[in-house]
Amino acid sequence: MLRQAKISAVSHYVPDKVLTNHDLEQMVDTNDEWIRTRTGISERRILEDGKATSDMAAEAVKKLCKQRGISPEEIDLIIVGTITPDMFFPSTGNLVQEKIGAKNAWSYDVAAACSGFLFALASGAQYIASGMHQKVVVIGADKMSAIVNYKDRDTCVLFGDAAGAVLLEPDEEGLGIIDFILHTDGKGAEVLQMKGGGSLYPATLRTVANDWHFIYQDGKQVFYFVFQRMADVSIKILEKHGFTGDDLSLFVPHQANLRIIDAAVKRLGISSDKVMINIGHYGNTTAATVPLALSEAYETGRIEKGDLVLFATFGGGFTWGSSLIRWALDNPVKK
Ligand code: ACO
Repeated sequence: MLRQAKISAVSHYVPDKVLTNHDLEQMVDTNDEWIRTRTGISERRILEDGKATSDMAAEAVKKLCKQRGISPEEIDLIIVGTITPDMFFPSTGNLVQEKIGAKNAWSYDVAAACSGFLFALASGAQYIASGMHQKVVVIGADKMSAIVNYKDRDTCVLFGDAAGAVLLEPDEEGLGIIDFILHTDGKGAEVLQMKGGGSLYPATLRTVANDWHFIYQDGKQVFYFVFQRMADVSIKILEKHGFTGDDLSLFVPHQANLRIIDAAVKRLGISSDKVMINIGHYGNTTAATVPLALSEAYETGRIEKGDLVLFATFGGGFTWGSSLIRWALDNPVKK
């Protein structure tokens, strides 16, 4: 990279409405004990009808600008990782641009499911590295409740709605994003997908009757892949740069299942106080999990300037990856 990109602000937005495991017990044949022990989830947030992914993303970016003390007009580019865009087109990035008044920014979306934020972050970092831009906003946002079938207990207990955002700027202190390792395996489409509504199966009575506009997941198959690959790609990036788990200050994994996170943590050989886990309160918010977890870690004073931070994700597609960064922000709690 010509210049290193650093995260110069981080924020998130979650809707107020809480959907608990006990609420779900009234909707499908499930129970709080099963959900907590199999997934680690107790509750998730649900966005109200009439609001969409861009509304959550816009709120997160407004907070981001306030934190950094900039006007939205200073933003050069907005990239949104999402698989629940408000509509097919225009992109959610365009809608966010309008909602926040970022009139000098251009924008686009990245569809990489639960790795959407990480893939978008890798893209955004290149515009900083090349010198093309000074301020790039990267968002992970999903309104999963829009594509979850609340009659399907296999999936409806897992997902929630949220948005997280970071601002990328050039680093001048030897901090910032060190590297990415990113992967795609198109075979994953068979076990994790939303079949209907695209150009292959445009919306018809048949696609609606067959529930093809809802997320489909063969949880067991996906579990096997996530279990292996999220830990593998985390270890690989540490080894590539001569680090071990001991060098890490914070691990921010994708929050899909507490058992998967625990397994990755065990393989990394790190203690639980170095892991950011908030799946219990939010469930799997797809592209939002990593920036949401990072934002909560930052707000609660869990990261110091200079700390080594590791992100790892796995999502539909399949898509997976990791990123290592040297944290560039002061701890707001100690100020
Ligand atoms: N409540 C009660 N019982 C349930 C529920 C539920 N909500 N859901 C499933 N069960 C039942 C099953 O029917 C099955 O019953 P059976 O044995 O009588 O057939 C039993 O519980 C066990 O089901 P499994 O599927 O084996 O449960 P498992 O332990 O695998 O957990 C889960 C399921 C949580 C989905 C897990 O497989 C998982 O986390 N998978 C990975 C998800 C993931 O990481 N996805 C990637 C990101 S998502 C994205 O990219 C959009």
